[in-house]
Amino acid sequence: LSLDILEFSALSALLVDGEGIIQWVEPLDSALPRAEREKEVHRVMADRGITSDQVELVWLDDGFLCPGLIDTHTHAPQYPNLGLGSDLQLLDWLERITFPTEVKFGNLEYAREVYEEVIRRSLNAGTTTSCYYATIHEESTKLLADLCIHLGQRAFVGKCNMDRNCPATYTEATESSIASTEAFLAHFDKPTVPTYSEPVKPSRLPLVQPILTPRFAISCTPSLLSSLAALSASRTPSIPIQTHMSENPLECAWVTQMFADETGAENWGKTYAGVYEHYGLLGPGTILAHCVHLDDEQREIIRRTGAGVSHCPGSNMFLSSGAAKIRELLDLDIKVGLGTDCSGGPSIGILSAIRSASYISKFNSFPSSSDLIPSPPRTRPLSTPNLFYLATMGGAALCRLEGSIGNFLPGKEFDALWVRPRGPGMFLRKGEGLKEIFEKWIWGGDDRDLGAVWVRGKRVAGTAGKETG
Ligand code: GUN
Ligand code: FE
Repeated sequence: LSLDILEFSALSALLVDGEGIIQWVEPLDSALPRAEREKEVHRVMADRGITSDQVELVWLDDGFLCPGLIDTHTHAPQYPNLGLGSDLQLLDWLERITFPTEVKFGNLEYAREVYEEVIRRSLNAGTTTSCYYATIHEESTKLLADLCIHLGQRAFVGKCNMDRNCPATYTEATESSIASTEAFLAHFDKPTVPTYSEPVKPSRLPLVQPILTPRFAISCTPSLLSSLAALSASRTPSIPIQTHMSENPLECAWVTQMFADETGAENWGKTYAGVYEHYGLLGPGTILAHCVHLDDEQREIIRRTGAGVSHCPGSNMFLSSGAAKIRELLDLDIKVGLGTDCSGGPSIGILSAIRSASYISKFNSFPSSSDLIPSPPRTRPLSTPNLFYLATMGGAALCRLEGSIGNFLPGKEFDALWVRPRGPGMFLRKGEGLKEIFEKWIWGGDDRDLGAVWVRGKRVAGTAGKETG
């Protein structure tokens, strides 16, 4: 597997079992006419000892099958704000736009209405796995997890923790923040969590998992940060953690200033990453959103601890946070995935994150002088294969799900999109093949091009059969 190589398979038959697991992928002869193809599929099945009455055959006559897209950082309760606040930067935006909306999620009816729409919309956009921040509210966060299960989206869901520097109406006491996080975790241990299909077998990967979610260092006391780290380490494998890091210059300055007292003569509080490492929050299960303003020392801390980065390019532009240097992280073998960061970013889908990530990487690559003397590019921009990797396998690795999702290897769960570009510009022209149709979709496509979206073998969204003309 290489970040630089995109593998296409020609016409194939793929068998998904009743549990949603890919059993095999068998190439077919693409020169055969349709009727002959059908015979060949039956022959391939017979070779494997499978009879027609055991399977439901789904023919995808046009377009191609693509692994489901993975959103490694987004805020479900910020959906009502999508597109608001583009002239603000992080700290003002939080105070004026974000906190006043999030506080409303104490109301379960309101939460249900918003959360259902978020999940449906992101499934329609091809997001088969999503890492969600919720709010501080335990009950509506449980509801978000239940709705993901009900609507069939693979997800990590986090009850947000924040016990300082927040509005009086939207904050928690340290002890109750921990207690309600523990209660939230217990919700996932109950066999009564509703499932969308048959009861879950104990051995199977849960569709929806909890993730610990200290909002960011500014809104968490040292005692809250270390309690959450201990909670994470109390299980094997550790409970995953998501947080924000090094997003905005004023935020970074505030963090190092805030922790100066705790640091004393030691060095750890000099950097944002050092603060998180000190409190035990960095490890292979940690997703760090943004990481725009990193120096070598912080990159080394991320690399050493095995934490990974959710790159949120749309948000980093929208809130004027800065241009994250993703090539430098990839060169250090740091795990990177893409995030929409709704509503820091103004769009729901990962296609738009792919495009923004490309544009930022190109901006980072431009020579620094604007005169006409040619100078070498500063860094290599992210290529289409690089970007597609971040949206699929990179995201899977960041979530520690690289053995289960991200591509179509047998044994993985079938999370997939049937991409049927609707043209007219996207129809194949003479001499164009799968590579061209793929590129046209990545750079110019949208939700309307998704004929079907499957998560773990179950169809959960898509336009096929719903054509309105
Ligand atoms: N840092 C702390 N909270 C937030 C948030 O809600 N969005 C973004 N983008 N950054 C944050
Ligand atoms: Fe965020």
